[in-house]
Amino acid sequence: MAKITYIEHNGTEHVVEVANGLTVMEGARDNNIPGIEADCGGACACSTCHVYVHADWAEKVPAKDDMEEDMLDFAFEPDPSRSRLTCQIKVTDALDGLVVQMPEKQI
Ligand code: FES
Repeated sequence: MAKITYIEHNGTEHVVEVANGLTVMEGARDNNIPGIEADCGGACACSTCHVYVHADWAEKVPAKDDMEEDMLDFAFEPDPSRSRLTCQIKVTDALDGLVVQMPEKQI
């Protein structure tokens, strides 16, 4: 279980507990948090679950694989150091306190 803070582009914060094994995208979807669309349902095929991981967490989340890296090229204004696809980040206790910020829009 991890407490995750999702910050909308307008600054609205949502702090929710997300169970281990779910993805950061599923945590937003299951709690009706706006700003993460996840059109492909988590298949790493749409880039509409893009967020900027808070700088304090950029090195702590598990690394991206090549597929996520490629798909991020299609995201809106990706930041090489902080952009991630939330459907590719599995929640564990190690992510307790994670903070992610939504982009202005999803593609
Ligand atoms: S939900 Fe489509 S890439 Fe993450």
